[in-house]
Amino acid sequence: MNSSKVSFLFTLFMILIFSHSLIPASCQSLFESICKETLENEGACIQLMKSDPRIPSATNYVDLTNYILDMAIKKATEGQNYLLDLMKTNPSKAIHQCATIDYNGSISSFKTAKVDLTQDPPTASYDAKIAGDGPANCAEAIKAENINNPTIFDINKTMLLLSDIASFAANKVGRF
Ligand SMILES: *[C@@H]1O[C@H](CO)[C@@H](O)[C@H](O)[C@H]1NC(C)=O
Ligand SMILES: *[C@@H]1O[C@H](CO)[C@@H](O)[C@H](O)[C@H]1NC(C)=O
Repeated sequence: MNSSKVSFLFTLFMILIFSHSLIPASCQSLFESICKETLENEGACIQLMKSDPRIPSATNYVDLTNYILDMAIKKATEGQNYLLDLMKTNPSKAIHQCATIDYNGSISSFKTAKVDLTQDPPTASYDAKIAGDGPANCAEAIKAENINNPTIFDINKTMLLLSDIASFAANKVGRF
């Protein structure tokens, strides 16, 4: 074997070693480290985040948090529309409270979080956390009236998870 062949093989060998050692780091998306922080909800978090293709490919925390907040606003709006529809056939006080005060409050907190994000990430993180209050209060009111509506509980679960995820993500902005 001549020396240029040896050095070619050596280079190839080094490239293989390096690419293998780099793969784990570069394959971990930003959202995956956020989902780890949701502990027992990690699986649900990953599934939810993958439903928006922009989220797995986000390369910085500002973009990532904005995409998560967009999803939160969208899901909260869908939840509110479901409740507004339900209100037409069900005169319950709890459902009325959910469809107006609770979900309005949640949507407006998520929107405020988007505005605060670049100027003041810790406040944006707090806004996102507070956005969970609406769905939580709604679920409590539903429970207190003994209304058994699995859809409302599902929406509650998803909204509280999104509130946590968005809050954790906003906390990373400006720190890394
Ligand atoms: C909720 O928000 C909608 C749309 O922005 C608005 O029309 C409505 O008056 C609000 N309701 C309450 C109770 O704040
Ligand atoms: C709303 O969902 C959260 C998160 O899953 C849960 O901890 C909470 O108990 C739920 N609230 C009600 C009243 O079911």
